Amino acid sequence: MKRIFSGVQPTGNLHLGNYLGALRNWVRLQDDYDCLFCVVDLHAITTWQEPGELATNTREVTAGMLAAGLDPKSNIIFNQSQVSGHAELAWIFNCVARLGWLNRMTQFKEKAGKSRENASVGLFVYPDLMAADILLYKATHVPVGDDQKQHLELTRDIANKFNNDFKVDFFPTVEPLIFGAGTRIMSLRDGTKKMSKSDPSDNSRINMTDGTDAIARKIRRAKTDPHPLPASPAEFDDRPEAANLMGLFAALSETSIEEVCGRYGGGLFSTFKGDLADLAVARLGPIQDEMRRLKEAPDYVDQVLGDGARRARELAQPTLDEIQDIVGFLRP
Ligand code: TYM
Repeated sequence: MKRIFSGVQPTGNLHLGNYLGALRNWVRLQDDYDCLFCVVDLHAITTWQEPGELATNTREVTAGMLAAGLDPKSNIIFNQSQVSGHAELAWIFNCVARLGWLNRMTQFKEKAGKSRENASVGLFVYPDLMAADILLYKATHVPVGDDQKQHLELTRDIANKFNNDFKVDFFPTVEPLIFGAGTRIMSLRDGTKKMSKSDPSDNSRINMTDGTDAIARKIRRAKTDPHPLPASPAEFDDRPEAANLMGLFAALSETSIEEVCGRYGGGLFSTFKGDLADLAVARLGPIQDEMRRLKEAPDYVDQVLGDGARRARELAQPTLDEIQDIVGFLRP
């Protein structure tokens, strides 16, 4: 059986990177796999979240998932904190994973920055919880953006070590699904940095909630370089902003980067940016309309999450029971 698990943090607005790197691919895969899509609120609190905002963001991210086209009937859509098995399995994995493995995680280094001593312990063991998310359902495939690759390698290491330590063939080998033109969308202010919710500059990203004017303004102001647009991807060296904007165009128009270079190469950024803004507005508009509609229907969103959590719990329980037996926990 092919099963997908993937998640997104409710730490703020969804942005274009989340959509192109993850959500859009989830929608494409949903008919071919048995899928669980999770709003990972336990992961979110590894950095401080205002309680009221966390609740609002959890609903908003869920609305974004539904508006992007995920079907809550055929998929399980839920928020992580409502299925306690995630935290239970994460604890077991804290005891399987090695300190040295976690010390190598680049995302921890980036997020903790210089104040490593001040980072939460949760932020350090974040990847163990991610492995628990996936393996609690014995998911085989995980569609994510490029930045999650290292975490998925760790998930494989944890599954392997668990199987070896307990001499079982219990957890499957997880396959990352990283595909499409939008696997790594960069900041609009700095083409060498990933587009991210945590960037202090709102101009660095296009939020899924941004209106037409904001989208056009952010693209108009996006950093460029003084040269004409590259005529082929071979000319992207040392031109990260051009590469990113042309990559965005390819991802949004579902064409290849070569085609975009063929069409705009040698031209001016100003003309290209106008077309890119029109394209972004046209592609995001219908999703945004649906997100606005769902914002007015919190009861419906809560019902989707409640139903998803119930179904996820049912799916997780037999696996958790087996894990407890394997580890040697008595279940009187
Ligand atoms: P998060 O919330 O940072 O991002 C959600 C998804 O969006 C992708 N993404 C991007 N893709 C392309 N370009 C970008 N600039 C960009 N920024 C984000 C991410 O790769 C991700 O797929 N740790 C995960 C959440 C998680 C998870 C899981 C994922 C928790 N448990 C289990 C898969 C399986 C995260 O922080 O995603």
